[in-house]
Amino acid sequence: MLSRALQLEEGKDILVTGGARTGLSKAFPFKLLLLLGFFLAFSVAFIIISVSTIKYYGINTVVTSVTSTFVPCREKPNVLNKWIKPPLVLMHNMTDEELLWRASFVPQRKDYPFNRVPKIAFMFLTMGPLPLAPLWERLLKGHEMHYSVYIHSQVSSSAEFPPSSVFYRRQIPSQVAEWGRMTMCDAERRLLANALLDISNEWFVLLSESCIPLFNFTTIHGYITKSKHSFMGSFDDPSPYGRGRYNGNMSPEVSINEWRKGSQWFEVNRELAVSIIKDTLYYPKFKEFCTPACYVDEHYFPTMLTIEKPAALANRSLTWVDWSRGGPHPATFGQSDVSEEFFARILNGDNCTYNGGNTSMCYLFARKFSPSALEPLIYIAPKILSF
Ligand SMILES: *[C@@H]1O[C@H](CO)[C@@H](O)[C@H](O)[C@H]1NC(C)=O
Ligand SMILES: *[C@@H]1O[C@H](CO)[C@@H](O)[C@H](O)[C@H]1NC(C)=O
Ligand SMILES: *[C@@H]1O[C@H](CO)[C@@H](O)[C@H](O)[C@H]1NC(C)=O
Ligand SMILES: *[C@@H]1O[C@H](CO)[C@@H](O)[C@H](O)[C@H]1NC(C)=O
Ligand SMILES: *[C@@H]1O[C@H](CO)[C@@H](O)[C@H](O)[C@H]1NC(C)=O
Repeated sequence: MLSRALQLEEGKDILVTGGARTGLSKAFPFKLLLLLGFFLAFSVAFIIISVSTIKYYGINTVVTSVTSTFVPCREKPNVLNKWIKPPLVLMHNMTDEELLWRASFVPQRKDYPFNRVPKIAFMFLTMGPLPLAPLWERLLKGHEMHYSVYIHSQVSSSAEFPPSSVFYRRQIPSQVAEWGRMTMCDAERRLLANALLDISNEWFVLLSESCIPLFNFTTIHGYITKSKHSFMGSFDDPSPYGRGRYNGNMSPEVSINEWRKGSQWFEVNRELAVSIIKDTLYYPKFKEFCTPACYVDEHYFPTMLTIEKPAALANRSLTWVDWSRGGPHPATFGQSDVSEEFFARILNGDNCTYNGGNTSMCYLFARKFSPSALEPLIYIAPKILSF
């Protein structure tokens, strides 16, 4: 309503100025009338154009409520569209409680009554901007049918992407998320819930601003879509950094034997995504009894899913990370680290299982890379990463 009122004010301004300018020519009331008529028509046209522009393109951030006001006008007579078309504008004013409730709607019939092309949702959980965005642009361009992008960022960064970007207006309503605290899991659930609103999203990948892809889109898409399991890291760590973080108050919901640890960077299918966002059983327990030095983002989803859907899990993450340098944080790689030998180490350094067989292709993504790595990465991408 705010911007509509402003536009009306502007229209009035024009009218007033027009009137003042023609004030001298009292001798020509007809001309004055004509002029007034012209400005009136102009103002009305201006308002109509502005309003339909807002309706068409939608409006982010501050004036979201303006768009919501117009939603009823945009609805097509074909009501099915309302359920199968992704939201035009990702910004909304739902609270987390409202959002999670809405996102937990699940169709009960097996088949979709329309041609559903399942997509991979790339969900970027970031502190600030996305310095490696050009690499992801290069990966995703041309595959629009098969992916969607979501950004949860603590600073509003979507404005800096041009309309041609895969990141353009992909920011979701975000809140502060702190490492090792429940606010981090809240942010991840917020990303999942927003992505679930698009019925076509079938796989959900959590990424950070320091993540890079290791293969081209075709390979990544094939690996994820043909997998019988979701890639959530989950293992029983007997050390003080694993079982040592378990709190007996969590039983009976969670026993020490069910306690799991795993990397925060996951890939889950739609069914598991719904399990995560609909959970109200384990959430209060983890929120109350897993606080630092229990890092809840390493335990909540792995433990919860291991209890509820163990057979659906690959129990490993798709995101490579280097802990070999020791310390509380994994290694960050910059310009001087990026080389063919470096990638040979990432791509062939491990063996794992995929759909029951052995493979050396264990990772599709890697972290952490600093902004300075972008240039050499773009340079070697066509040769080493095949995109
Ligand atoms: C969201 O916006 C709508 C319409 O603009 C309003 O009716 C509703 O109360 C708002 N909800 C919240 C939670 O602010
Ligand atoms: C993608 O990469 C694979 C190897 O990982 C290669 O065989 C394939 O040709 C590449 N596809 C495209 C479209 O570049
Ligand atoms: C992952 O672990 C669970 C139990 O923790 C097990 O049931 C499941 O089979 C494992 N997944 C794979 C692919 O081995
Ligand atoms: C992976 O398996 C292959 C074949 O079984 C073996 O030659 C290789 O050394 C293994 N690599 C690692 C890092 O264990
Ligand atoms: C996978 O490798 C392990 C040892 O690394 C071996 O015991 C197992 O039989 C292999 N499985 C398949 C399906 O080849």
